[in-house]
Amino acid sequence: MDLQLIAGSAHPVLAAATATALGVPLGACELGRFPDDESRVRLCESARGRDVYILQPTCPPADRHLFELLLIADAARRAGAARITAIVPYLGYARQDRRSAGREPVAARVVANAVSAGGIDRIVVVDVHAPAIEGFFSIPVESLTAMPLLAEAVQTHVDANSVLVAPDLGAAKLAERYARALRPSLPVAIVHKTRISGSEVRVTRVTGDVEHRAPIIVDDMITTGATIEAAVDALLAAGSVPRITVVASHGLFVDNALARLRQLPIQRIIVTDSVPLPETVALAIQRVTIGPLLANAIARLHADESLGDLVQHGVR
Ligand code: R5P
Repeated sequence: MDLQLIAGSAHPVLAAATATALGVPLGACELGRFPDDESRVRLCESARGRDVYILQPTCPPADRHLFELLLIADAARRAGAARITAIVPYLGYARQDRRSAGREPVAARVVANAVSAGGIDRIVVVDVHAPAIEGFFSIPVESLTAMPLLAEAVQTHVDANSVLVAPDLGAAKLAERYARALRPSLPVAIVHKTRISGSEVRVTRVTGDVEHRAPIIVDDMITTGATIEAAVDALLAAGSVPRITVVASHGLFVDNALARLRQLPIQRIIVTDSVPLPETVALAIQRVTIGPLLANAIARLHADESLGDLVQHGVR
């Protein structure tokens, strides 16, 4: 069965890097909009009998990128694709995995239903916010992790005075995973955070020894930067050294995130290229490419081989 890699419009640079690492050309595809702003998709080459991979992070604008993914999948299915795999390096709506108040939807479930019903045979995600949402999908979910790549990038900035910091309870296990991956073995501290709104959080306390230590804050994603800002403020108040490294799988940097983070004593931010970076950054952002990771996963899936060391089960 022939392999075909098709890119949605969300992240052409990552799609090109993945295609290069995989050694295949990107499948020709027309993506545009009708005059009334509806998405328009047309595959320009045959998909019949092929093993089709559609690369599309559902980053902002999430609705548009999600729907485009569904349309490409539908086009491939109607064109006779033998198997369709969605490669979604960043899965939007994953944070809405439960109702935080009455009369709210569970948006992650709605996304899973749409993807599962859309003719997609399986989905590949990277460091998804809530691994438990795998259970929302009726199709197989392969959860890749970029943590080893990020740990390798941060390793050069680690010394005996560093402390790993989870900026909220949800990131505690992630911080422990970094602690196991890095040398020397580092202590872990946790910032206790309460979310007030989509762009505001409050820190109640910091547990762990952070005084006179240089924090390495690890999280799955940076969106508005509110979590990192609150964590940095709390760490400095607790006596940390103003020499801070931030590591996250997904750097969305929406709203005024960059301006917000620029004011803080952050020496570097290390993220993957799972989503496109805003054009003007003016911050020391180091990007670790996941193109080869995605290419490796696609090659193994195409050959029906184990994903083994590329996946992470059930732990954020
Ligand atoms: C929350 O649980 C996540 O792990 C991140 O901490 C959060 O989504 C980051 O968002 P923001 O940058 O807007 O605080």
